Amino acid sequence: MSSAPSCDGDARHGDDDLASRLAQTATEIETLLDGLLVGEVREGEIVRPARLLAAMRHGALGGGKRLRPFLTVETARLFGIAAGQALRAGAAVELVHCYSLVHDDLPAMDDDDTRRGRPTVHRAYDEATAMLAGDTLLTLAFEVLADPATHPTGEVRAAMVLALARASGLGGMAGGQMLDLAAEGRFDDGAAATLSDAEIRRLQAMKTGALLAASVEIGALLGGASVAQRGALAAYGRALGAAFQVADDILDVEASPEQLGKATAKDQDRGKATLVQALGLSEAKRERDRLSSEAVAALEGFGAEADVLRAAARFAAERRS
Ligand code: IPE
Ligand code: IPE
Ligand code: MG
Ligand code: MG
Ligand code: MG
Repeated sequence: MSSAPSCDGDARHGDDDLASRLAQTATEIETLLDGLLVGEVREGEIVRPARLLAAMRHGALGGGKRLRPFLTVETARLFGIAAGQALRAGAAVELVHCYSLVHDDLPAMDDDDTRRGRPTVHRAYDEATAMLAGDTLLTLAFEVLADPATHPTGEVRAAMVLALARASGLGGMAGGQMLDLAAEGRFDDGAAATLSDAEIRRLQAMKTGALLAASVEIGALLGGASVAQRGALAAYGRALGAAFQVADDILDVEASPEQLGKATAKDQDRGKATLVQALGLSEAKRERDRLSSEAVAALEGFGAEADVLRAAARFAAERRS
């Protein structure tokens, strides 16, 4: 797929670049989101209520690893697209992610008080405002993607909108959140359902994997990737996404709230369906590492230019926050 020298999948090339490039993307995304979440009305709008804007800013600014926009930017970069040409599309994915966190933390869902080291949006404001902040972060994501400033070609913009909508909706993230809550048993006389490994993997592929895979897919769309390249990148995104959620479930058991900026040791009490619960901690760690290696292996057709994506797959598994 590339004329560049192929990279040994076991080599840890790209790890040094990863931290600095992740930090760079995080800074650029923060600036971009800050500029989008402003009080002045845009064409076609009537007024931007200050309380809602403040809650959106609370939910979207000042924290987070910004891994999803990083994946979009770095995937597009594989095809020679400059970071500046991919950032707005990455910001759209991050806005969907931020909305998903605001709603995930609501009392009606996971009922969490802390996120990214700060009070959750419904704690800092109120539940109704948090619901609306989630709604408006979501709609803003699609406004950003549909804007010609994001890509000059309408067909590319439409393809990105389609990819993000599918990943976020009924058969993707929101559907996965439904399965996650159902697995707690809250809709069936309070008895937690016992999900098979395959059912847990499917749930996680939806609630978390779909958006991470879409981050990569949107980068491939920006880059004009071939069908074969898109297939390889889709396999990479799916495996990375799966590794990322197993790591999240392991961190819930092993990390501290200070490390993560959110409460820990809550999944078991809530009866969450996780691979830690299904396989035990050490087997879940093996599975996390296997999935990360699977993501790296999916990139074998790319050369050294994909090293930073390989490093991102390792990071998804090995991260400490
Ligand atoms: C947390 O996502 C929720 C999951 C999908 C597991 P991240 O770990 O990417 O959260 P931030 O954006 O860095 O805060
Ligand atoms: C969150 O999964 C997935 C989405 C927000 C879509 P979790 O509920 O495990 O995420 P944390 O642990 O609250 O960040
Ligand atoms: Mg949840
Ligand atoms: Mg949660
Ligand atoms: Mg979690």
